[in-house]
Amino acid sequence: MNVGVLASGFGSNLEAVLSRAHGADGVEVVAVGSDNPEARALERARTLGLTPRAFPLADFAGDRAARDEAMAAWLAKAGVELVVLAGYMQLVSPGFLARFPERVINVHPALLPAFPGLHAIEQALAYGVKVFGVTIHFVDDGVDSGRIIAQRSVELPHAETPEEVLVALRPLEHELLPQAVRDLAAGRVRVDPAQPRRVLVDR
Ligand code: GRF
Repeated sequence: MNVGVLASGFGSNLEAVLSRAHGADGVEVVAVGSDNPEARALERARTLGLTPRAFPLADFAGDRAARDEAMAAWLAKAGVELVVLAGYMQLVSPGFLARFPERVINVHPALLPAFPGLHAIEQALAYGVKVFGVTIHFVDDGVDSGRIIAQRSVELPHAETPEEVLVALRPLEHELLPQAVRDLAAGRVRVDPAQPRRVLVDR
């Protein structure tokens, strides 16, 4: 399965997909894109021999739908069948999702449906939770509201800062995201016909 990865920032999840999913279960990462030309993720992609491309909103006069259309066309031209949002800090427009129906997934640093949107770790800390976690989910038209593919939690009853939570969550993301990509590529992921919110992973 040809995979395209979109990343806005540091790129550690991109790196995890490249090192833990690329080449396994038929996964081939064929494109890396970003909204942010300065993203470290692009640099990481380059060092790994890929030719990433940035689609800054400014190049499209701030028109997100137009930017997403160009990005979707570029991904489709590369033969992408699955789009992985790996720290992609923008909402994707409905037109983009329509190009890849049920084939866009995201990694979110909270146990959804708690704390969707930006600053999820800060939201969780402000709420005073003792259990944190990560979610891999399909992307739909809402904000972090699509079907859940995988989740993992970690108890951090004494956590005080976003940094220490992030340090605990990163390894979970780096395990779950590549695994979900492999499961999708291998055809192990399906929706429960009896409960359409529920994703079954046959592993
Ligand atoms: C991750 O924590 C992810 O959950 C969130 O953005 C962060 C991206 O980190 N959506 P990286 O760029 O993959 O290192």
